[in-house]
Amino acid sequence: MRITVKGLSKTYGKGEAATKALREVQFTIEQGEMVSITGPSGCGKSTLLHILAGIESIDSGEVWIGDAPIHTWDDKEIANLRLTKMGFVFQSFHLVPVLTAWENVALPLIAAHQAPEKARVRALDALREVGLIEKANRYPSQLSGGQNQRVAIARAIVGKPAIIWADEPTGALDTDTAEQIIGMLEMLNQHHGTTVVIVTHDPMVAGRTMRTIRLQNGRVIRDGGTAQC
Ligand SMILES: Nc1ncnc2c1ncn2[C@@H]1O[C@H](COP(=O)(O)OP(=O)(O)OP(=O)(O)O)[C@@H](O)[C@H]1O
Ligand SMILES: [Mg+2]
Repeated sequence: MRITVKGLSKTYGKGEAATKALREVQFTIEQGEMVSITGPSGCGKSTLLHILAGIESIDSGEVWIGDAPIHTWDDKEIANLRLTKMGFVFQSFHLVPVLTAWENVALPLIAAHQAPEKARVRALDALREVGLIEKANRYPSQLSGGQNQRVAIARAIVGKPAIIWADEPTGALDTDTAEQIIGMLEMLNQHHGTTVVIVTHDPMVAGRTMRTIRLQNGRVIRDGGTAQC
């Protein structure tokens, strides 16, 4: 699904307390691209990702996910699109501590009303894909940071999404583990044609994507090529 952003602006708060988080942001990401979004702290990266994923509202402009003009959609329509077409990976993994690895991975399928047994089989397949099948019955507290991030990636891909959004996916990991995680996202991008959009501070991560969109003070100041952070 092509991602199209036109004249996107976003302000938090009002009057004196207003913060302009995004100003007239514009770009297109084609299906199957792997793109990093970089820029200094507070420049609007997470805000942009949340808007693209339909988690945050916008003030003006347009956001299209494929044929869907999500700037005109209500929460329920967007929630359905998120569940069926998008996967998420976060810096802090966001796993449920009282569920095992495979149960965490199965969650989006259960939320989408899949039968539990089918959800379990698909969760195990996704864990196999990220090389963690032997840890399927472990709890997050019994896994390393890199392993937990692989569980989170398995959860992101279990519904076979067209797009994966990742916000600082390597932020909590050491360099070697970070490289493994990026390698895994590259593999998904190349083998399945999944669009991968990664917000990152890490020059190693940005250096591994074909395209980098750089933000500063809410504006796109560079778009294209690999770039330093
Ligand atoms: N919910 C909110 N309410 C008010 N202001 C917000 C909110 N979320 C973000 N902001 C402000 O909007 C601007 C952009 O924030 P954002 O989180 O998108 O930055 P970022 O580039 O992701 O930063 P970092 O690299 O530190 O994660 C910042 O000035 C921030 O303080
Ligand atoms: Mg952020």
